[in-house]
Amino acid sequence: MSKRVLTGVTTTGIPHLGNYVGAIRPAIAAAAEQNVESYLFLANYHGIIKCHDPAMIEESTRAVAATWLACGLDVERTTFYRQSDIPEILELNWILTCITPKGLMNRAHAYKAAVQTNLDAGQEDQDFQIEMGLYTYPILMTADILMFKAHDIPVGRDQIQHVEMARDIAQRFNHRFGKEIFVLPEAKVDENVQLLVGLDGRKMSKSYGNTIPLFQTPKQRQKAINKIITNLKEPGEPKHKDESPLFEIYQAFASVEETREFERALNEGLAWGEAKKILSAKIGEELDSKTDAYNDLIANPSRIEDILQAGASKARQEAKELLAQVKDAVGIRALK
Ligand code: ADP
Ligand code: TRP
Repeated sequence: MSKRVLTGVTTTGIPHLGNYVGAIRPAIAAAAEQNVESYLFLANYHGIIKCHDPAMIEESTRAVAATWLACGLDVERTTFYRQSDIPEILELNWILTCITPKGLMNRAHAYKAAVQTNLDAGQEDQDFQIEMGLYTYPILMTADILMFKAHDIPVGRDQIQHVEMARDIAQRFNHRFGKEIFVLPEAKVDENVQLLVGLDGRKMSKSYGNTIPLFQTPKQRQKAINKIITNLKEPGEPKHKDESPLFEIYQAFASVEETREFERALNEGLAWGEAKKILSAKIGEELDSKTDAYNDLIANPSRIEDILQAGASKARQEAKELLAQVKDAVGIRALK
């Protein structure tokens, strides 16, 4: 029996180092293994939750697709598609909405963070300016996952809770309707990769404008990396790895040996400026060879579109079959 791997990236901006180490790199590695079927996609319906700028949604769709392809996604072996090309996902989303407890959504991190922002700002209404899309977004993510009977979901640490919710909802459906229709998914997190911190000290995220983009010239990359927060310690003064987020970024790109060496150098007084040069070069080793492919794809959107259309027809076929079973299970059937 083959194993199914699935993950998505939202189309709200230009992919960054966090997306790469948290989802894109592990998903492409998992997809290349034997006996694995992979489903990798552009989450553009998730995109419109956080981003109401149509031009950005379009630009991001192109950039996220070009990133997957430039990073080595094999279109022959992988089902690669855009969420909105599979309307069955939205039908499944509704059916799952009908069995999801509201209390489960109250506990979702993204919603709780938005409530906390309102409370911190002294807002009386804790739901001020929070849309239903944000509130129910773990259900749409559940539909993405359950639709293709995925087992393993490679994600960054911020998404673990959502995958657990998908598991909960799958279990609930199977139990309620007495059928083992849905597979129970599991989050797969790379143990050497932390949630990368962005240039402003918060989680690196397309939504915060605090990212280091994946594909840049070495000069642009160095400039971005120079903005990573450090402290005022002088060259020669011992430094601890937790004094700057740059260490965890290095760790996400280096071997265990190299990481140990880097930590030792910091302890022995490596200057922050030098550390940033080492980091930039390390990232370049992994990404520079992919940059031309990325730029070529960005310049040829119709090539990307053709690939996505081919992926959508593969994915839709399967989605239709699963949705038919689900509808039958809940009693939405032809009358005989
Ligand atoms: P963003 O917050 O940049 O919009 P997405 O929500 O599209 O990112 O996330 C796509 C994938 O990238 C998810 O699996 C997520 O966990 C991962 N990811 C996002 N930001 C980071 C980060 N800073 N560090 C590690 N992984 C991340
Ligand atoms: N919600 C995820 C994020 O913001 C992206 C995503 C959408 C996803 N659907 C998914 C990830 C299904 C894994 C599986 O990061």
